[in-house]
Amino acid sequence: MSAKMSLALRDRFEREIAKYPPAQRQSAVIACLAIVQQMQGYISAESEEMVAQYLGMPSMAVHEVVTFYNMYNQQPVGKYKLNVCTNLPCQLRGGSAALHHLEEKLGVSAGETTADGLFTLQECECLGACADAPVMLVNDRAMCSFMHTERLDELVAGLRALHVVVDAGDSGSSPSAEDAPCKP
Ligand code: FES
Repeated sequence: MSAKMSLALRDRFEREIAKYPPAQRQSAVIACLAIVQQMQGYISAESEEMVAQYLGMPSMAVHEVVTFYNMYNQQPVGKYKLNVCTNLPCQLRGGSAALHHLEEKLGVSAGETTADGLFTLQECECLGACADAPVMLVNDRAMCSFMHTERLDELVAGLRALHVVVDAGDSGSSPSAEDAPCKP
């Protein structure tokens, strides 16, 4: 981890830690891990240790948080992480079909990343929006509802286009997965 990144991390960590009483700095662990993931794409064992030391807590306790929450990546993932809900309410309304459609379209199985490093496809637990099934999440932030075949195709095409815009160096705006083209 570079010194520059360490300084940036320290600054963002301190802003989260300041939200809690001094004796409870460990309460910022979820936020600190989310920051690490946002900056590095995933949370390595080295990062877990760094967070543990910074917050003054056992590294095993940090590891337990990382492995408990589905949103944390324990290894590098693609630029766009697609989590498709396959819990029962979504299953009854096309959740499995949505996952299989993406597997075929992207040429990967759930849990894998495309060869170009653009997409990682995963199954996930209930996202709390069952009435909108089938539901999926892009990069842990953008919720996408009613994701039947046509909308899945639009989403993938839109994210590919977003990637091209970013790669072309169009700095007029900073498109991110939060702009995922899946809104009604
Ligand atoms: S079961 Fe899919 S969002 Fe609840």
